[in-house]
Amino acid sequence: MPATVVVGSQWGDEGKGRVIDLLSAEADLVVRFGGGNNAGHTVWVGEQRYAMHLIPTGILRHKLSLLGAGMVIDLAVLREEEQALTEAGIAVFEHLRISENAHLILPYHKLQEAEEEARLGAKAIGTTRRGIGPAYEDKAARRGLRMGDLREAARLREKLECVVEYKNFLLGRVYGVPPIEVTPLYEALCEHYRYYATSICDTSLLVNEALRGGKNVLFEGAQGTMLDPDWGTYPYVTSSSPMSGAVACGAGVGPKYIGRVLGTAKAYTSRVGAGPFPTEMPEEIAATMREQGGEFGTTTGRARRIGWFDAVVVRKSARLNGLDALAITHLDVLDRFEEIPLCVAYECGGERTTEFPNDLGQVAACRPVYETMPGWKEDISGARAFDDLPKNAQRYVRRIEELVEAPVSHLLVGRQREQSILL
Ligand code: IMP
Repeated sequence: MPATVVVGSQWGDEGKGRVIDLLSAEADLVVRFGGGNNAGHTVWVGEQRYAMHLIPTGILRHKLSLLGAGMVIDLAVLREEEQALTEAGIAVFEHLRISENAHLILPYHKLQEAEEEARLGAKAIGTTRRGIGPAYEDKAARRGLRMGDLREAARLREKLECVVEYKNFLLGRVYGVPPIEVTPLYEALCEHYRYYATSICDTSLLVNEALRGGKNVLFEGAQGTMLDPDWGTYPYVTSSSPMSGAVACGAGVGPKYIGRVLGTAKAYTSRVGAGPFPTEMPEEIAATMREQGGEFGTTTGRARRIGWFDAVVVRKSARLNGLDALAITHLDVLDRFEEIPLCVAYECGGERTTEFPNDLGQVAACRPVYETMPGWKEDISGARAFDDLPKNAQRYVRRIEELVEAPVSHLLVGRQREQSILL
């Protein structure tokens, strides 16, 4: 059975968790393929709120859940997340497997990131400060520690001593921070390993076996396409690819197994951190939308920046990811508007374009061109079929489909599982 991948089509926080939760009802295996605990997926089941950071959302339905090789993992955070879920009645340990090739996020990564963001001051990226970037830097520089390194204590200690010596030299010289000690780091890692020893494995074998056996595999994306290091608003991006193309490398499967690519987008746009955001709205309107849409980071609690739906952005995502369909979330947050501006193109240097420029200088020179859609001024949270929606809400969705050149497959009209519409 061809696998499905769910990716974010904007700057992250599109509501992927909700969509993955819906799809994972039918899945046998759910796999994260990149990123780390910079991700934050919020899922409500009744009155219980689950905040997922590292663990795939499929765990909420007790599905086998894998952390792929493309991820960077902070084991202390994983333990905390597991504990919170276990206390809420989710059997995490039995269903979780961790790739032996995934990289570790260590305290010096967080320290390095905090120091560098502080040094950058007004030019900071506005990262989640979870050590993501420095952990991927070390991976690329071939000095990272991987889950598999935890297996042999003596070798682990040796590697750790070598890298800590380097980090102390670097962080001391550049930022003037006091040296980090190896022993507490080593002991903490050994303790985590005792706990997770049986969960660490070659997860690629499990995914491939499931795919060949006709099982339903769901790849869970994190972040959004506009945060991709190659195709996003570089340098205001994350450090791993959140796109559908990253599944193959991050999970260790051939791309031929990916049968369906589902993008998620909010009915408007949000962004956390610095960087361009052409359709960002004035704070007076953003403040109300933020309250209504619960637009505060699941991971950092930061207030998200809010803007109107940008079809230029989602159109770019549709192209880059090869989207088969789009799930639109938070449609109900637009209920109260008389009119809804929809960005259909940009005007750059007197020319109109529907392609998002790759160059940030050009992005800065672009002005969004809006089409004003009539609002529906009605509570749509009870709609369960497309025909239940007011005509103006239907028009809004159909216009998005035309503009981004991808069909809409799901609409989410509230935070509960049943508040969804399948088209
Ligand atoms: P980092 O991934 O922590 O290095 O942060 C780099 C940029 O990506 C910052 O602008 C973050 O706010 C943003 N970012 C990272 N992960 C997410 C996410 O899951 N949702 C939204 N933004 C994110």
